[in-house]
Amino acid sequence: MTQPIIQLSGLDKFYGNFQALSQVDLDIKTGEFFSLLGPSGCGKTTLLRSIAGFETPSAGSLYIDGQSMDGVPANKRPTNMVFQSYAIFPHMSVAENVAYGLKARKLPKAEIKTRVTDAIAMVGLQGFGERASHGLSGGQRQRVALARALVLKPRVLLLDEPLSALDKKLREQMQSELRQLQRAVGITFVLVTHDQEEALTMSDRIAVMFDGTIAQVATPQDLYGQPCSRRVANFIGMMNFLDAKILSTSGETVDVDVQSFGKLTLPLGQATGGLEGCDAVGVRPEMLTILTGSQTAEREIEAVVSEVFYYGDMTYYDVRLPFKEESVTITMRNTAGRSILGVGEKARVGWSASSLLLLK
Ligand SMILES: Nc1ncnc2c1ncn2[C@@H]1O[C@H](COP(=O)(O)OP(=O)(O)O)[C@@H](O)[C@H]1O
Ligand SMILES: [Mg+2]
Repeated sequence: MTQPIIQLSGLDKFYGNFQALSQVDLDIKTGEFFSLLGPSGCGKTTLLRSIAGFETPSAGSLYIDGQSMDGVPANKRPTNMVFQSYAIFPHMSVAENVAYGLKARKLPKAEIKTRVTDAIAMVGLQGFGERASHGLSGGQRQRVALARALVLKPRVLLLDEPLSALDKKLREQMQSELRQLQRAVGITFVLVTHDQEEALTMSDRIAVMFDGTIAQVATPQDLYGQPCSRRVANFIGMMNFLDAKILSTSGETVDVDVQSFGKLTLPLGQATGGLEGCDAVGVRPEMLTILTGSQTAEREIEAVVSEVFYYGDMTYYDVRLPFKEESVTITMRNTAGRSILGVGEKARVGWSASSLLLLK
């Protein structure tokens, strides 16, 4: 196995008495598109800036490409950072902005020219080299910032919420371009985002952070399908929770008493964060089905529709299950011929034991 490009272990960061990072252990693989995801204030930027060398950790070790970064200043690290507010120089042309770091390194003029032209093309700004930067749109300015970082050929590109200032449509377009760009250049990207959809659609792997700690590191599919706690499950998409009481364990299974669903035996693997402290069962809205006509399911429970949200292609139902106060959400695809239930109607809800997660 090749050595991870970034290795963090036991990383702490204090600002005065306030602990912004606590015992962060993390390996990021070479060539990976890696995201740091978490709510505002959880320490994402602090972690990224520590990797870049703009912050000095209070404890722990940081290796990049097998080298300890202790005492190595930001400009001597094989990393480059793209900031949230793409700080490009408005009085310079696009090409001058992109060339800036290369000129500072005193590279030969001819090499600078080729590399700048290549980098500008890479981010889709061919022909914009002589343009003034102040006249560019937000998306174009962000491309210039990207080109300026990529032209230096860093081993790792660090991106702190680079798309958050763009409107939704442009942001989605840039997400897909950024992903393609990362594949094309093969550089390790570490992206900070608070947007779970952005992290899911773009990343090879994601670290979910809360309160200065890493809660889980996994691929998007594993994070969504096997979250290790209620908190992670709630942050990544929608999840219904039912109270659950562990009755006993034996070998590879656990017996639980679940609100509304009753007594069940589940494989231990469905306690995705371990059994200790589990007090709820989680089930994703698309794992529940509203049965129609002669449709059947592995298990069935009677419910009453309390709210209906029609989205055209999908309908979101809130339903009341027996013995449960809060409603449960079910998402259904509106396939041909499927009728939509109304508020107050009875619904047969299909579910299966294999789609339940036992969570703490
Ligand atoms: N220079 C600083 N001095 C004091 N507190 C800071 C400093 N930088 C960040 N913090 C605090 O550290 C916490 C984490 O901040 P940050 O890493 O910016 O979070 P995120 O990027 O996830 O929003 C926040 O509570 C923030 O207020
Ligand atoms: Mg931040």
